[in-house]
Amino acid sequence: MRTLIKNGTIATAADLYKADVLIEDEKISLIGTDLAKLGSFDQTIDASGKYVIPGGIDPHTHLDMPFGGTKSADDFETGTRAAAFGGTTCIIDFAIQPQKGSLRQGLDDWHQKAEGKSCIDYAFHMIARDINKESLAEMDRLVKQEGVPSFKLFTAYPGVFLVDDASIFRAMQKTGENGGLICMHAENGPVIDVLIEQALGRGQTAPKYHALTRPARLEAEATHRVIALAEVAQVPVYIVHLSAKEALEQVREARDRGTKAMAETCPQYLFLSYENYEEPGFEGAKYVMSPPLRAKGNEDALWAGLRQDDLALVSTDHCPFCMKEQKELGKDSFAKIPNGAPGIEQRMSILWDGAVRSGRIDINRYVQITSTAAAKIFGLYPKKGTIAPGSDADIVVLDPKREIRWSAKTHHMRVDYNPYEGRTTRGSPTQVFSRGKLIVENDKWLGKTGAGRFIKRGPLTLSS
Ligand code: URP
Ligand code: ZN
Ligand code: ZN
Repeated sequence: MRTLIKNGTIATAADLYKADVLIEDEKISLIGTDLAKLGSFDQTIDASGKYVIPGGIDPHTHLDMPFGGTKSADDFETGTRAAAFGGTTCIIDFAIQPQKGSLRQGLDDWHQKAEGKSCIDYAFHMIARDINKESLAEMDRLVKQEGVPSFKLFTAYPGVFLVDDASIFRAMQKTGENGGLICMHAENGPVIDVLIEQALGRGQTAPKYHALTRPARLEAEATHRVIALAEVAQVPVYIVHLSAKEALEQVREARDRGTKAMAETCPQYLFLSYENYEEPGFEGAKYVMSPPLRAKGNEDALWAGLRQDDLALVSTDHCPFCMKEQKELGKDSFAKIPNGAPGIEQRMSILWDGAVRSGRIDINRYVQITSTAAAKIFGLYPKKGTIAPGSDADIVVLDPKREIRWSAKTHHMRVDYNPYEGRTTRGSPTQVFSRGKLIVENDKWLGKTGAGRFIKRGPLTLSS
């Protein structure tokens, strides 16, 4: 199968130039001018006036995840199809060690959820909630044999995911030996639980108290702490879903003293704020996620962090729960609202509109924070994350003029609300290729359920 994408402007994290791209089977085989001369093609896409960019990589999703007494609403089929519509061609989802179970069991569970269902390529991180002799030994096997070299640990959610500092430290030392990477959910869970108990005791049950019981200071404290642990263990650390200016300051200070501290933020922290919790009735539940949305002003610091590379990339933390029957579990207590929000579909468009079109960052940086940085940090590069001969033909043709009006009525995610309902973004994919196959053309689904492959990653070199 030979596909020619002609007359487009290729944008990578480094370059911006007009050229044609030849795809042969699953790979990019040639980049050059006037490639139409090369003969006949099975498919030709005219990308005049459009950008040809690497498919988005979203390194933080939760598909089919049991949480808060229910399960995230998108499974691997619906979630990855929605991702593809939005221009994301690879995700890294979080497998979970079952309570009292092994990492191996968690990994098997997640393979079962994804195999035969995923519409795009996927990889896994492993959430470890019990660090002991056995799971530490299993970490070696995951890194060296199973293609899962990244692990998420929590300083939040006592009794569910929280692990203590000694466990975090041991796991960090282990990754120092085996080439893995520890990713941290950094919030001080035990203190947050005291604040939750006190708020509920005062009868403060509305969704906004979710945010008011998770102050930014407690994200900054945990961020500071896990960076200190990584410094003593002499390993890199990656902070997930960073939301607050104060937490970012901890990352920046660490980086300034030469520590390999990396962090991601998410669109919700750039485009929404605490004010959303003040929406009438129970509407604030839509935004119950952890860390919570922050006071206006924090987003300016996050944008600066993205420009200056103290924030390496933008993931989604896609973890959708429907308002009906799921978020509603917390009608009488914000503490029972399942934590998480949908975002897998709109990330590429909302960032193009709110970052590139608005002039906050340039196109190269856009490609870096939506694709290349994730590929480099998490061991997918150069197979994915760039437009180059030999790389997988995971390609998005992006029309800077294409508008989308976001709505739960038209989005492809299996969730009954959209946090950006009614917002119009300009600049969106018109064609999406997954390993050389055209899987989305405008509003049309051309892909196949189950065509996505598990991507085994090796020990990480952290060349980003
Ligand atoms: O509220 C969130 N972020 N839900 C997903 C789980 C997590 O902590 O990432
Ligand atoms: Zn988390
Ligand atoms: Zn998450």
